[in-house]
Amino acid sequence: MLKGKNILLCVTGGIAVYKAAALTSKLTQAGASVKIIMSNGAQKFVTPLTFQALSRNDVYTDTFDEKHPESIAHIDLADWADLVLVAPATANIIGKLANGIADDMISTTLLAATAPVWIAPAMNVHMYDHPAVKRNIERLQSYGYQFVEPNEGYLACGYVGKGRMEEPENIVKLISSYWEKEKNQPLKGKKIVITAGPTREILDPVRFFSNRSSGKMGYALAEEAHQLGADVTLISGPVSLNPPIGVNVKYIENAEEMYDAVLEEFPSADIVIKSAAVADYRPKQVSNEKMKKQDGDLIIQMERTKDILKTLGERKDHQFLVGFAAETSNLDEYAMSKLKRKNADMIIANNVNEKGAGFEEDTNIVTIYKKDGSNKRLGLMSKKELAKEIFREIVKTLQEERSK
Ligand code: PMT
Repeated sequence: MLKGKNILLCVTGGIAVYKAAALTSKLTQAGASVKIIMSNGAQKFVTPLTFQALSRNDVYTDTFDEKHPESIAHIDLADWADLVLVAPATANIIGKLANGIADDMISTTLLAATAPVWIAPAMNVHMYDHPAVKRNIERLQSYGYQFVEPNEGYLACGYVGKGRMEEPENIVKLISSYWEKEKNQPLKGKKIVITAGPTREILDPVRFFSNRSSGKMGYALAEEAHQLGADVTLISGPVSLNPPIGVNVKYIENAEEMYDAVLEEFPSADIVIKSAAVADYRPKQVSNEKMKKQDGDLIIQMERTKDILKTLGERKDHQFLVGFAAETSNLDEYAMSKLKRKNADMIIANNVNEKGAGFEEDTNIVTIYKKDGSNKRLGLMSKKELAKEIFREIVKTLQEERSK
């Protein structure tokens, strides 16, 4: 399964270094070519000779100990790798990587790596639970780093809890199935921009206009696009969802910021999916002071925001443009009219009055409208399942267009 794959194993200092030796052996037996970098801490537990014998390759320990004058080792190793695995990963290396620190062979190589980087933490349960460590892990996840979660169980420090590095055979299985999946990724090499969540249009320092979008639909689409191999940028309004692993997330607050963020990504995008619920209007006047109650009614003058989907429709050259339509009646008529007016290639319409559909729910019921006038109604399903269906339809349509 791993035949011909180059795996760079970065071993940092913890008792789980002994597992990294077993991991090297299993990866090598599975056909991978494994090169190893050890931190100073790791060498206190096991010597480089063990890894050299198991991998049949040189082991790297010092950024300035250049073995071959024709190359610079940390750049060469980063370029060589098809996958970089940090196992065991201490709180220290996670913290350094999350903050861009490059002060030894492993941290410099990690910053230079463009291949996928997998991190298998191993540490004491309280260290793993520390807010600083959690923040660093979340930050790295938002950059697209993949974490192999530690197991719960007996820890070398005497505690029982989460912090044991995943077993080497399971890591090998995870890596194998990752490459198995890679083979079947129809969106590999495509850049997909997805918008999600609501926008907030400020009225004064304590009030804003917004809507009920939770971001669930857009986040499910982003996760699925990543699974299918795409390079995904998710432009998200304020939501309380975790950033999807492997996805580049850009947070915005209001419709104007979403317009700028989407337009910036648009020229290099292949597919754009606009599932965000963008405000159509915003207060014309924004008060710097909290507005005081007055007797009688309050009239707030609203002005139109920019229509992002329409702008994209006017500017598109090669991009496949997918809009959403949140309707409460006349789905067919309104969706087809949006498709034409906004020059989209596909509109996903949901009747947000229908039970199980639309805002906040974990499920949705949609009809997919295409440029050729055809449509496909999908029954009640989870937003995650729906994301798969939507991409199946997009991939099919792109293949049909290509074969014309
Ligand atoms: O986030 P969830 O809770 O999971 O809910 C999902 C959802 C209901 C938000 C989603 O399924 C959905 O319907 N999203 C589109 C909501 C919407 O704004 O619909 P619309 O019919 O008002 O807008 C049509 C299209 O134009 C949309 O693609 C929208 O992103 C886009 N638009 C709207 C206004 C604007 N100023 N610029 C835009 O680009």
